Amino acid sequence: MIMWRALGCGTSENRYIREPDGGADMSAKFAWVTAAATAMIVSAGVAASAAPGDPGSPRFGPGAPGAGDPYFPLAGNGGYDVTHYDLEIDYQPPGPAPAPLEGTMQATATLSITPTQNLDQFNLDLRDLDVESVVVRGRPARFTHDDGELVVTPRPKMHAGRPVRVEVTYGGTTGRPTDIEGALYGWVTTRDGAMVVNEPDGASTWYPVSDHPTDKATYDFDITVPEGLVAVANGDLVDSRTSNGRTTWSWSSRDPMASYLSTASVGNYELRTSKTPDGLPLIDAIDRDLAPDASAGLAQTAEMIAFFEGEFGPYPFDSFGAVVDDDSVGYALETQTRPIYSRRASEGTVAHELAHQWMGNSVSPQRWRHIWLNEGWATYASWIWAEHDGGTTAREQFEDVMAIPADDEFWQTIVADPGATGLFAGAVYDRGAATLYALRQEIGDAAFGELSRAWPQGFADSTATTEDFQELAEEISGRDLAAFFDAWVRTPAKPTP
Ligand code: ARG
Ligand code: ZN
Repeated sequence: MIMWRALGCGTSENRYIREPDGGADMSAKFAWVTAAATAMIVSAGVAASAAPGDPGSPRFGPGAPGAGDPYFPLAGNGGYDVTHYDLEIDYQPPGPAPAPLEGTMQATATLSITPTQNLDQFNLDLRDLDVESVVVRGRPARFTHDDGELVVTPRPKMHAGRPVRVEVTYGGTTGRPTDIEGALYGWVTTRDGAMVVNEPDGASTWYPVSDHPTDKATYDFDITVPEGLVAVANGDLVDSRTSNGRTTWSWSSRDPMASYLSTASVGNYELRTSKTPDGLPLIDAIDRDLAPDASAGLAQTAEMIAFFEGEFGPYPFDSFGAVVDDDSVGYALETQTRPIYSRRASEGTVAHELAHQWMGNSVSPQRWRHIWLNEGWATYASWIWAEHDGGTTAREQFEDVMAIPADDEFWQTIVADPGATGLFAGAVYDRGAATLYALRQEIGDAAFGELSRAWPQGFADSTATTEDFQELAEEISGRDLAAFFDAWVRTPAKPTP
């Protein structure tokens, strides 16, 4: 076996740690992204028009059913911005076998939205669950709900710039949804709760949402579960209260967040709270059914935060922590302020998910094709953490990637446009990280260090593209880097150093 395979740099396999029992159904596809739906997007992009014979009235029209991301045409929506989600979710996990692996959810989502155009209709993304009612500014609104699109017709119509509250009451049975590649994601029902991991467009499996990173919002969560279980969401734990055998866990995420980073995982967790020496609250939720070594990789969390603050600037959010579940979705996810791990949090993965808080969570991809700026940075960050901690050096990691033969299909991924089914391809992670390492050699440690801090600072709580990154690197280094970025992220061939 050649060395790089042993290191997990394989091409056909995805880079994130998959487990054999992940339960992924590879035959599952996004059947609901139909050609008809795509055609709908094109037509809905057309500007709103006045009623015929009524030229004086303001023009109203429908918001687009998608945010315009070619990888996931119906993810997100047009015509408005969501500024806040208030999610009240009552959840009953399935309990032990032989009960079917299905939960029950009854919920109300209250969205604060600001129209960016005059709207007589708008969409939200919601899969699988059933909608009972939609209320806009206190008035019941008509709606349809097909193929993951909740189409709302508010009356009176909505004016650009005037914020409204939209209240959706919904619920039903929860299962184990899968993404376009067949990996478990979204609200993944487990025997004793749920592991909730939405990347890239799985938030719509559990609440009505504008499910694209370009529409970040703040969140409040009230998650009610049977007494004894713990529900863990993003941000700060505000309150927990129990009555009639049910406990409501209230969390608040005051930092704007992309929907793919939201979570409300439920399990038999022990909550452990502490603070870093700098006073940042740490809230970990560790499954009581796991052996202690499953969370041993969290031991250096505070040191890692201090190390990455030196590299990337101040930690971008107001708390941190981890969820380690004894169930598995087959991978870990950098859910905002509170990464979630399947069965075990290893030190390298903890460093990777922590680095995402700057690289991916604060600065998010404006289109999904720019995901290498998440995964390349997080992988590079775990390289420099390992080196800092006395392990393998970043140079050795880089050399392992460069040892992959030029004719290997690893080099055929276009890192800055890997395709919707290539989001988590090995090259997005490892060639992405090697790109950053090579850039550091190209522009020197000083300019690269400045870039590493300017990037998360300049695009904090926002989204950005590969072109934004190249431009910033050129500005800081004073160099034309077109040939460098073309060779490293835009060409399906091995770069020659
Ligand atoms: N962003 C995650 C990580 O790098 C991996 C998510 C994999 N998700 C998936 N749906 N296959 O840790
Ligand atoms: Zn990652």
